[in-house]
Amino acid sequence: MLVSAKRMLDKAREGKYAVGQFNINNLEWTKSILLTAQELQSPVILGVSEGAGKYMAGYRTVSAMVKAMLEELNITVPVALHLDHGSYEGCYQCIKAGFSSIMFDGSHYSIEENIEKTRELVKVAHAMGLSLEAEVGSIGGEEDGVVGLGECADPQECKAIADLGIDFLAAGIGNIHGKYPENWPGLRFDVLESIKKAVGDMPLVLHGGTGIPEDMIKKAVSLGVAKINVNTECQLTFAAATRAYVEAGKDLEGKGFDPRKLLAPGAEAIKGTVKEKMELFGSVGKA
Ligand code: 13P
Repeated sequence: MLVSAKRMLDKAREGKYAVGQFNINNLEWTKSILLTAQELQSPVILGVSEGAGKYMAGYRTVSAMVKAMLEELNITVPVALHLDHGSYEGCYQCIKAGFSSIMFDGSHYSIEENIEKTRELVKVAHAMGLSLEAEVGSIGGEEDGVVGLGECADPQECKAIADLGIDFLAAGIGNIHGKYPENWPGLRFDVLESIKKAVGDMPLVLHGGTGIPEDMIKKAVSLGVAKINVNTECQLTFAAATRAYVEAGKDLEGKGFDPRKLLAPGAEAIKGTVKEKMELFGSVGKA
């Protein structure tokens, strides 16, 4: 059964570990992530960007697939199905489609408009039993068409949004979607500390989890980060494993062109990446 992400993230913040949000793109991705979470007895959040939702033939298709897969694969660990960087309209669509969690990314609005829309969506989401993530400041780079300049969040604005009763908060602290540039100065722990002081016990979300050095991940978790989003890294490992299979000519041997064979190395590689992250985030055995 799908669950809201509230309880798992409150528990993670108290226990000083983080739950991974792994973005899904198709059936293989979903299956690899769920099987790994079950094997490691870890809670997990499946992230769906608006672009990935369209690609997978709509949010209702995604929701039906995930719910059926939980049953068919006997997944018993807590799993949340979460809209990633949702627009106002996208949030309503996912609430209707049966998601268990939504992110409303109002970071490109004025803070007043972000507050108004977040206030409304919190009410609706909570009435329907979903958890809600809000965003202040912006995550640099691009996530499936959502572009951010990477400005750090203002702690007072974070407090204003947190006070609306949201469940967890994504605040820009110098993190970037996609690969980090060579000259990236690192996470702004000074900003993270001020945000934590302003919002108290609210679980914080670290987007752009791909390529952040381990010591920074651990420090961020010690400062209140309870959810870490990973997308690009699974895409890179999937692509590398698929490339190796094709370059070795395996698709030309026997029935190696069968999609179940062609996509198998990539699906296995995703399991490895998810496992590595769950171990680093400390969520193993926390189901
Ligand atoms: P990466 O693609 O950098 O891992 O970021 C994922 C993310 O933050 C999704 O919201």
